[in-house]
Amino acid sequence: GVPSVLRVTPKQLKHNNGTEGRPAWSSFQGKVYNITPYFPFHPGGELELGRAAGKDCEKLFMGMHPWVNLEKMLGKCFVGTM
Ligand code: HEM
Repeated sequence: GVPSVLRVTPKQLKHNNGTEGRPAWSSFQGKVYNITPYFPFHPGGELELGRAAGKDCEKLFMGMHPWVNLEKMLGKCFVGTM
């Protein structure tokens, strides 16, 4: 079949920051996730997760909880690659 993985541009990532009805996307190690559905479940709270919206979250994520497996947790929220 035709590959269906979306190639996300930096502009698209920045645009999808969770404001004005848009989803919140975040990149981590070259992969982009839609973190919108995870907001009510984040143990660190919505405010902290919101810091990842529309940008790369590797520094924040690894600085806070490097033991958490983001790829496994948000696998179903995978959007595409940068
Ligand atoms: C806690 C997932 C992003 C800040 C947690 C925990 C998980 C999690 C599973 C519990 C960890 C444990 O108890 O061992 C995620 C996922 C993220 C994400 C899937 C995807 C992007 C972030 C970001 C920040 C953040 C960007 C901002 C710096 C925190 C904080 C806690 C926490 C402060 C500690 C809560 C507490 O124990 O009181 N997160 N996180 N997280 N997270 Fe995140």
